[in-house]
Amino acid sequence: MLSVVTVGLLLSLAPLFVLCVPPIWTQPEQVHLSYPGFPGSMEITWTTFNETDESVVEYGLWGGQVFEFTAKGNTTLFVDGGSEKRKMYIHRVTLNDLRPAAAYVYHCGSKAGWSDVFAFTALNKSSSWSPRFAIYGDMGNENPQSLARLQKDTQVGMYDAILHVGDFAYDMDEDNGRIGDEFMRQIESIAAYVPYMTCPGNHESAYNFSNYKNRFSMPGRTEGLWYSWNVGSAHIISLSTEIYFFLDYGLDLIFKQYDWLKKDLEEANRPENRAERPWIITMGHRPMYCSDNDKDDCTTFQSYVRLGRNDTNPPAPGLEDLLYLHGVDLELWAHEHTYERLWPVYGYKVFNGSVDEPYVNPRAPVHIITGSAGCREKHDPFVPNPRDWSAFRSTDYGYTRMQVSNSTHLYLEQVSDDQFGKVIDSIWVVKEKHGFSSWF
Ligand SMILES: *[C@@H]1O[C@H](CO)[C@@H](O)[C@H](O)[C@H]1NC(C)=O
Ligand SMILES: *[C@@H]1O[C@H](CO)[C@@H](O)[C@H](O)[C@H]1NC(C)=O
Ligand SMILES: *[C@@H]1O[C@H](CO)[C@@H](O)[C@H](O)[C@H]1NC(C)=O
Ligand SMILES: *[C@@H]1O[C@H](CO)[C@@H](O)[C@H](O)[C@H]1NC(C)=O
Ligand SMILES: *[C@@H]1O[C@H](CO)[C@@H](O)[C@H](O)[C@H]1NC(C)=O
Ligand SMILES: *[C@@H]1O[C@H](CO)[C@@H](O)[C@H](O)[C@H]1NC(C)=O
Ligand SMILES: *[C@@H]1O[C@H](CO)[C@@H](O)[C@H](O)[C@H]1NC(C)=O
Ligand SMILES: [Fe+2]
Repeated sequence: MLSVVTVGLLLSLAPLFVLCVPPIWTQPEQVHLSYPGFPGSMEITWTTFNETDESVVEYGLWGGQVFEFTAKGNTTLFVDGGSEKRKMYIHRVTLNDLRPAAAYVYHCGSKAGWSDVFAFTALNKSSSWSPRFAIYGDMGNENPQSLARLQKDTQVGMYDAILHVGDFAYDMDEDNGRIGDEFMRQIESIAAYVPYMTCPGNHESAYNFSNYKNRFSMPGRTEGLWYSWNVGSAHIISLSTEIYFFLDYGLDLIFKQYDWLKKDLEEANRPENRAERPWIITMGHRPMYCSDNDKDDCTTFQSYVRLGRNDTNPPAPGLEDLLYLHGVDLELWAHEHTYERLWPVYGYKVFNGSVDEPYVNPRAPVHIITGSAGCREKHDPFVPNPRDWSAFRSTDYGYTRMQVSNSTHLYLEQVSDDQFGKVIDSIWVVKEKHGFSSWF
């Protein structure tokens, strides 16, 4: 007969025996979507820890024949920069010729293992369509307070895409990339259903942003550092503000992005393009303006992102003039763990449409700072006396919703998770004209 002590000992060792059963290293995980920028396309990205013979997505129309179609893609080996040099196989498959606005079900993997079944709706390619977004930055592995609400919102179909404005996981490279794995598993519950579009933040800087570049699949062959895409009546530009701060990775990146951005804005402003997609929206991690009570760059007049740097050789241009001169309508930022809405602003000056209706035909871009999704660094405080460009502030955890209704109307609202989903701020931006000339 086993003594109580022996039984106790065996029971206490049980977890060790369980751990000895190895996971299936070819099992797909961390499934997420992104929009490659071509009407009728969707990209699916996932991870395995062993190589598989192929990377396959099987999919079909919702309610149609299950897995009627098959698409194949590519695998890249990602070796994390940490001491263990952990290997991850990142699988990418692009689906093409999807029926616009149709719902699909899919799974991904290979003969050596398949994911759960997920669903998405292909983006409607009409420029008169009104896409809906969730927007936030600074969501971590620990304390991702808004995640549960975002999961439900997404799964009931409230969003057509999500914009994550930098700072993921805190930090993806930690524990030899395991924190990145865990974060990507956490967001699968939203990112496997709608395109999850990103830009890099300072928390991604390890090993030259390698976890960011390898784990996401953004359009434009720039490893997700800067790119643009069209949806509804909007042209959305994603930027790296981090190139202004991590000069060791290459000062030339500031100039490369600037030149690319200038060309992209010129193209978007060609009369036929601006007529079809009048809204130009940018997203970048570190804001040009903010009212937070910390030592961040945006608290100073001379923010690098706004005015550039003169301590580099050659001096590096900032972004405020370039965006203003090309009539950018809306600029989305994060990094500050708060929500802040600004009156239309350029050059530290407020340019309301009118005093009664500041956002009706605003005479400068509108800025929103939304970095309060929740992370281990908690909240940031505000200064007691904000500048006159600051219109609304909240330290609640939460996120922003946006709908680009049509060529003249764009709606923004702020959801407070602390207040159980209450909408604590909302505006309509109304523009009868777009472009540089609309400022006057
Ligand atoms: C599979 O992956 C595991 C974990 O990364 C690794 O230890 C093992 O060597 C790999 N096996 C093969 C055959 O690649
Ligand atoms: C796979 O890689 C090849 C070569 O780089 C490329 O031509 C092809 O388009 C890729 N396929 C997918 C589905 O991304
Ligand atoms: C796409 O959006 C347009 C504009 O809202 C709408 O008229 C059209 O019916 C939509 N297409 C589909 C397939 O739902
Ligand atoms: C960092 O990454 C960028 C973009 O991939 C690349 O152009 C640059 O050369 C890299 N810098 C270093 C120091 O490796
Ligand atoms: C260079 O930038 C600093 C702040 O970053 C500013 O104080 C200084 O006036 C600038 N110098 C010139 C010559 O523009
Ligand atoms: C902009 O509009 C707001 C709201 O009406 C007002 O409080 C603020 O003073 C205006 N700012 C300027 C500079 O006109
Ligand atoms: C644009 O959308 C707004 C808000 O939904 C609506 O009031 C307006 O009539 C629409 N304009 C056109 C031209 O459809
Ligand atoms: Fe940040």
